Amino acid sequence: MCSSFLFIGILVCVFSISQTLNTCDLPARGSPYFPKNFSFGVATSAYQVEGGWNSDGKGPSIWDDFTHNYPHMIKNGATGDVSADSYHRFDMDLAALKELNVSHYRFSISWPRIFPNGDISSRNQMGIDYYNDVIDKLLANGIEPMVTMFHYDLPSEIQKIGGFANPLLIPKFVMYATELFEDFGDRVKIWMTFNEPLVFCKASYAEARYPPLVDVPGVADYLCVDHTIKAHAAAYKVYKSRFYEKQRGKIGMALDSYFFLPKLNETEASHRALQFNIGFLAHPIFHGGYPEIMVKDIETNSLNEGRIASRLPRLEGYWKEIVKGSADFFALNHYTSRLIKRSVDPTFMNPSFERDTDVDETVDPTWLNGGAPWLYCVPEGLEGMLKFIREEYNNIEVIITENGWGDSGELEDDNRIQYLKSYLQAVLNAIHDGSHITGYTYWSLVDNFEWANGYTARFGLYAVDMNSPKRERTPKKSAGYYNQVIKSNKIVNEVDMYRLMKNQFVTKR
Ligand code: NOJ
Repeated sequence: MCSSFLFIGILVCVFSISQTLNTCDLPARGSPYFPKNFSFGVATSAYQVEGGWNSDGKGPSIWDDFTHNYPHMIKNGATGDVSADSYHRFDMDLAALKELNVSHYRFSISWPRIFPNGDISSRNQMGIDYYNDVIDKLLANGIEPMVTMFHYDLPSEIQKIGGFANPLLIPKFVMYATELFEDFGDRVKIWMTFNEPLVFCKASYAEARYPPLVDVPGVADYLCVDHTIKAHAAAYKVYKSRFYEKQRGKIGMALDSYFFLPKLNETEASHRALQFNIGFLAHPIFHGGYPEIMVKDIETNSLNEGRIASRLPRLEGYWKEIVKGSADFFALNHYTSRLIKRSVDPTFMNPSFERDTDVDETVDPTWLNGGAPWLYCVPEGLEGMLKFIREEYNNIEVIITENGWGDSGELEDDNRIQYLKSYLQAVLNAIHDGSHITGYTYWSLVDNFEWANGYTARFGLYAVDMNSPKRERTPKKSAGYYNQVIKSNKIVNEVDMYRLMKNQFVTKR
């Protein structure tokens, strides 16, 4: 076909080649419109955007200590000391939020700004004032605040007594959560206790990549998850018994997982990987107790290793009971997928979560890859994940609390637009199939500190000039695209995208 000498033939040929190369696409099923009242938003987290690391009485967090003391472990020795400087420049973020026309903004509160040494005795009014101001300004502009209580920045003093490896974390967190309900619960109606426990428990306690740099895989990571889920449930219980009647809010926990597409016909491997990842925290919350497959197999592995008990802590009795039912919605962070078949590489670290999971992960070489090495565009994975949640957790309400694309920071970010378009299509397809999804949150509003990748992977709809003291924000092409989606409440097609290329959305402030 490509040998045609006709101009039209050449065009068709180029078009069809680009179609076959572009795997980051998803066919539509049903209407292109989102349901009325569907909420579009964007997300950030305190350590990643705020800066002001020691301003106005804030105490140090484990990420302040880590970036200051181990610069070689972070790309270009970057820190979050200033980052996008949202602590001093929230008004610039607010202008961007208004320009995008979002309905909600998900941000996190820095625990050491509220309790500088992690303890109730150190309450810092200036930190509380900052978040009061943020919340009031959002509401004054018709933007709903969605607040995460913990997004990795643990007060250093709590780490000194073991952090998430010490059960004392539970009452410490409950006191912190109670303070937040008291200070902000009159206006904040959507809370998330923890962000991505599996990520921080593994990176901090099994892989020694995040502070406190512990590497006791298959043991300390499980202990961390266990304490996190108990702290979550205890905070939920306090909210329901002391605050709910007046405040009438909802609480969830932001859970993350890749989707696992079966390689060839390995659907059992795919299901197993989902239970070990999303199910690890979701099963106890929505059904009670860790997934049976995890309990059974980790116990067997542990006994075979010569231990007297399972490496996976027991979640029974009182705790099992209060964890069960401790979320009012499913807060889902989802970015990408892997192909799965049974049996892990035998050289894998033993013990470890990976050995216990016992599946082999690969990627399809045709998947579009972004600036973050782990991130491939696989929109059918989001559809699969939403189907899994629909079927496994009784079609609970889902708010997608994170989804996004990283690159090296280009303003003409066509791949981000492509990713956004097809992941939104996945959301629409799932809604068409009966999923109860009420919101979508793009990560992130602005470029920010991407943990160990420093500023090398940028996820923002707005670029931030990290070399300028004023940290000017510039909308990328994708900001214009998202704005069009929000305005029209539907997936915007190529014709509109073309119009955008020539539009006026690019201004510095
Ligand atoms: C999930 C995390 O919650 C967030 O902190 C991170 O920046 C994004 N993924 C992108 O990696």
